[in-house]
Amino acid sequence: MVNHSSGADEVTPDLGEGTITAAVVESFAGAKDERLAHCIAVLVRHLHAAVRELEPTSAEWLAVVEFLTATGHKSDDTRQEFVLLSDVLGVSALVENINHRKAGGATEATVLGPFHMTQSPPRELGDSLDEVGHDEVCLVTGQVRSVDGTPLAGASVDVWQADDAGFYDVQQPDIQPAGNGRGLFTTDAQGRFHFRTVVPVHYPIPTDGPVGALLLDTGRHPYRPAHIHFLVEADGHRPVTTHIFVSGDPYLGSDAVFSVKRSLVREVRLVEDPRGAEYGLTPPYRHAHIELVLEPA
Ligand code: BEZ
Ligand code: FE
Repeated sequence: MVNHSSGADEVTPDLGEGTITAAVVESFAGAKDERLAHCIAVLVRHLHAAVRELEPTSAEWLAVVEFLTATGHKSDDTRQEFVLLSDVLGVSALVENINHRKAGGATEATVLGPFHMTQSPPRELGDSLDEVGHDEVCLVTGQVRSVDGTPLAGASVDVWQADDAGFYDVQQPDIQPAGNGRGLFTTDAQGRFHFRTVVPVHYPIPTDGPVGALLLDTGRHPYRPAHIHFLVEADGHRPVTTHIFVSGDPYLGSDAVFSVKRSLVREVRLVEDPRGAEYGLTPPYRHAHIELVLEPA
């Protein structure tokens, strides 16, 4: 009698819903880089679990693929839509949180964001970041210290912020001078720094791509509360990327990229009395102060 069986033998796997995840994980087990093999295994397990829970139609899965394709097409040397996606999903902030678990009073870290893409111009203490010349001045003063309180002389304080309309220089290359809103400062013998700038305002993250469409479709606003970015480095210490946020901003409770920390909110107070004026500034002006505390490397 002729045997009409398929011819499959015992080593031919019979892959289905119940066995496919283990097979995919196993297929990466030979990777030379153990960390890579582990990362892929975890990702595959969680991705498969999401698919099992969602049971997407083929059309829905295709929509996911098209969204990711559009995210890639929107990205280039000056625009990183995947970073933006990671930001609005809270992944960038979570990675920062994990890598900077609060250690003994060091300044908390926040996301770098997509606008630290250009070299900040070196500036002298007291200089202004504002190359356009707005009327309202904001003085920012601060000190860089180690967790034991030692002032860190010669620390590098890289600062960047949006202008008074909420745009970074790189977003408006035809309107703002390159380097506007940016400055690279070196702390003095007491670890102190000060500079002038415009009063930061809240602004929307870029919404002209697929990530903006996602926010719109899901009823989320794109705003970040008013802030100034800092990247601080000092010999023998772990660098920190952080922000100061302006107290009272309406978006402090709903930052589009989930980066607000209470310890980083600062009052930007109005100085009106000439007797309280510092650094030869003529009131009225605004003033914010930040202590930046680094942990030893
Ligand atoms: C920013 O603050 O510059 C920023 C951070 C994350 C996404 C978009 C902008
Ligand atoms: Fe920003």
